[in-house]
Amino acid sequence: MLASGILGYSAETLESIAEGGAGAVVTKSVGLKPRKGYTNPTVVQVSCGLINAMGLPNPGIDEFAEEIREARTSLEVPLIVSVYGYSEEEYATVARKAVEAGADAVELNVSCPHVKETGSEIGQDLEILAKVVSKVKSTINRPVFVKLSPNVTSIADIAEVVVKAGADALTAINTVKAMAIDTETTIPILSNRVGGLSGQAIKPIALRCVYDIYERVKVPIIGCGGVTDWRDAVEFLLAGASAVQIGTAIATEGPGVFKAVSHGIEEYLKVKGFKSVKEIVGLSHRS
Ligand code: DHB
Repeated sequence: MLASGILGYSAETLESIAEGGAGAVVTKSVGLKPRKGYTNPTVVQVSCGLINAMGLPNPGIDEFAEEIREARTSLEVPLIVSVYGYSEEEYATVARKAVEAGADAVELNVSCPHVKETGSEIGQDLEILAKVVSKVKSTINRPVFVKLSPNVTSIADIAEVVVKAGADALTAINTVKAMAIDTETTIPILSNRVGGLSGQAIKPIALRCVYDIYERVKVPIIGCGGVTDWRDAVEFLLAGASAVQIGTAIATEGPGVFKAVSHGIEEYLKVKGFKSVKEIVGLSHRS
């Protein structure tokens, strides 16, 4: 799947990713009202990854609903809309409008590492988090994915709360809180100072999170964080993921990365004598 936040909001960009071989696409996060986001610089390249702090720029669900409708008519793969809000009611309203416009599922962003009063501020408060998930679950009749933050003491504890509240699947992980400082100007590079690290740098962290979550809950896990080639994807499957998302690697590998990864997984299964991906999901847990 295409990971959330990588590409813009237009139906055309989502279609180009599906043509590149993605089995599903997740949109950038959308909220109830339009948000401008932070001023530049909003992205900085670091060793083995990117740090970004865009500030959840988005056109608001009412305008974005048009793009969802358009994308839904032409896309041949499931369309998952990433949703954020400032309260359980807001999450539910945005999710309802997304589903009315044609979303096949929603992914709740309760893990943006730096925007005030949403994202990880919701995802780290277990009481509010449970209310958000159950409110969305009772409002829409489509699968609810919840994208978890690695910036917590125990991601498995959070996963348990979210699954008890009704989540159908978990996406692990969102970006890791990070920063970069310009030694010339002596100040942080990003206008927001702090951002979220993605890409190969976070793969071992994401893998450990998926492994921990798989030991605790039974719902499908979607691995996300640094997947760049088939071997990364297979590692996530062995850790317990049933699918993976790819984001940052599109910048380095291009949209063909989806076909390359799925072809590589198929070859691996063939060489190893497995009949289906299902046979390797969580296989690393056996003793
Ligand atoms: C932003 C949102 C995220 O969920 C994230 O992990 C990083 C950045 C943003 O819009 O700034």
